[in-house]
Amino acid sequence: MAAANWSPDSWRSKPIVQVPDYPDAKALADAEARLATFPPLVFAGEARDLKKTLAQVCDGHGFLLQGGDCAESFLEHRADNIRDFFRVFLQMAVVLTYAGGSPVVKVGRIAGQFAKPRSSPNEKRGDVELPSYRGDIINGPEFTPDSRIPDPQRQIEAYRQSAATLNLIRAFATGGYADLERVHQWNMGFVKDSPQGHRYQELADRITETMGFMRACGITSENTPQLRATSFYTSHEALLLGYEEALTRRDSTSGDWYATSGHMLWIGDRTRQPDHAHVEYFRGIKNPIGLKCGPTLEPDGLLKLIETLDPKNEPGRLTLICRFGHDKVEKHLPKLIRAVEKAGRKVVWSCDPMHGNTISAATGFKTRPFDRILKEVEAFFDVHRAEGTHAGGIHVEMTGQNVTECTGGATAISEAELQDRYHTHCDPRLNADQAIELAFLVAERMKQERLSRTAAEPVQAAE
Ligand code: PEP
Ligand code: CO
Repeated sequence: MAAANWSPDSWRSKPIVQVPDYPDAKALADAEARLATFPPLVFAGEARDLKKTLAQVCDGHGFLLQGGDCAESFLEHRADNIRDFFRVFLQMAVVLTYAGGSPVVKVGRIAGQFAKPRSSPNEKRGDVELPSYRGDIINGPEFTPDSRIPDPQRQIEAYRQSAATLNLIRAFATGGYADLERVHQWNMGFVKDSPQGHRYQELADRITETMGFMRACGITSENTPQLRATSFYTSHEALLLGYEEALTRRDSTSGDWYATSGHMLWIGDRTRQPDHAHVEYFRGIKNPIGLKCGPTLEPDGLLKLIETLDPKNEPGRLTLICRFGHDKVEKHLPKLIRAVEKAGRKVVWSCDPMHGNTISAATGFKTRPFDRILKEVEAFFDVHRAEGTHAGGIHVEMTGQNVTECTGGATAISEAELQDRYHTHCDPRLNADQAIELAFLVAERMKQERLSRTAAEPVQAAE
């Protein structure tokens, strides 16, 4: 059943922000019509499985790990980049599962994370002003007039790249690469000799020991698929609605509409106006969805959005991705949690410690100090502990490469070092070492949450 008065194109009659100015409307319509004939990238059944797993996180069981590039790039579409990302992501997941003691729901910002909202429609360098770069699915990052013209053919290219990326990731997830027997092999390359690499190595040793014990008991990755393969889902910000509409399909088993460009889609902090196009589009798709919650979101506004986006209060449907800034969590998060709890709404609370902590270094680079990222995560866990709610996930921008984009971390990247390997097209990402360090911190906080919850449970009187 479709939502009332909704169709995949009903967003077109609503006000919209962050839309590119395509010079050729016919070329745009042709590209969208073509996309509409292409096969779906994901299936409705997979999106339903993810929703079910997220419903368990809603109930306090499990933890959502969501991460990947700020923006995927056409130029860097290479197997080793995908592999390196996947490897570090698996390392993080293993740290959270083993040290944190909780099942981890793995969702990449990948295979579709191309379109970017911008703070200004134009970018000025010296005396030259050009349209801003909006992500490879729209225009090019080079600062030339030609490259900055939105080109609809890029949507076709983004679709093809997403399909190829997803294909490789599915192979990694189920074809043996993610086998827990390989837990040591994921710790390769430059990470191996880094401070967090050593820490990971110790944890991997303990897992191998456990696996040896299990093997002796007859449980092996040959006879236990859970050890051999992993579930991995894709997600992106559904900003470019023409592209999303073209890939919105009716599921033949349920008759429901699903976005098939990725398993989970989210609404950005800049496009969550309740009467605008993005919220209109999202209310009609059945996928699990995310909503970014920044410091300008008040409890009433949030409740109104929840009512529109999740009228049936369906666990797993809605993940609230909080991104306030390290020093603003205590001011903003408690009031949102209280409003949601009072209204009896089932949501997953996740923490994006990246987007509220972006600063300009003296050298001009956009960066994020690692200690602020950690502080935002700590504050997120502290508030949930005080409110008695479940800190359900993190959402990070990260890469498997040895980049120098965020300052700090165990290798203490300085502002002067940012220029060494600053490769992002958009926001600064955690490098592999920083990502693993963050995972260890989160695991520690998850363990504390679990222990305090067990301690709070009433002791059963003996019969
Ligand atoms: C993002 O996740 O890349 C992003 C732009 O986030 P936000 O909408 O929270 O600013
Ligand atoms: Co970003």
